[in-house]
Amino acid sequence: MFIIKEVAFWDDLNEIMEQFPKGVFLTTKNEQEVNTMTIGWGTIGVMWNKPVFQIMIRSSRHTYDFLGLEKEFTLSIPIRQDFKQALAYCGANSGRNQDKLKECNLHILNGRKVDVPVIGGCKRYYECKVLAKKLVEAEDMIDTINQSYYETGDFHTIFYGEIITSYEL
Ligand SMILES: Cc1cc2nc3c(=O)[nH]c(=O)nc-3n(C[C@H](O)[C@H](O)[C@H](O)COP(=O)(O)O)c2cc1C
Repeated sequence: MFIIKEVAFWDDLNEIMEQFPKGVFLTTKNEQEVNTMTIGWGTIGVMWNKPVFQIMIRSSRHTYDFLGLEKEFTLSIPIRQDFKQALAYCGANSGRNQDKLKECNLHILNGRKVDVPVIGGCKRYYECKVLAKKLVEAEDMIDTINQSYYETGDFHTIFYGEIITSYEL
């Protein structure tokens, strides 16, 4: 039995943004499988009069194939919890050829308002639905960013996810 505490999407932003560069779990799902990957970049704010979580996913990621307009995703933020090993594994191995959840012994819980699960034990959760997406290519950014991050041309797409609910478990 879990006690659910609904929170405002901006609650505890300092702790959440401190965790972000160390990694949080981005979970996606299609008809066949659930996959999770580590992400370290993201922003929370208001767009189109809605609470929005922006994430950046390179097109080479297996996760990229699970995302698109109206697709759902969840973010599981392990604040004050130790998921170091699983975050490192899910950030270095693709779900294209393995079940990372099983490999890392991660247990999933049903999403509350979306049809994508969250990772148990993480404390803070966001459930989102994609409102818009934008591929950011070389001509859309300054040269120093392009040179530092996109030598191979594996550009990020920004996915703008409406935050449907945010809560703690
Ligand atoms: C701390 C950390 C942060 C990361 N952040 C991102 C990110 O924001 N976007 C991204 O596309 N990849 C990011 N990665 C790399 C992916 O997690 C990695 O390529 C993963 O294997 C992709 O999994 P998938 O192919 O199952 O989707 C990050 C990796 C680590 C370790």
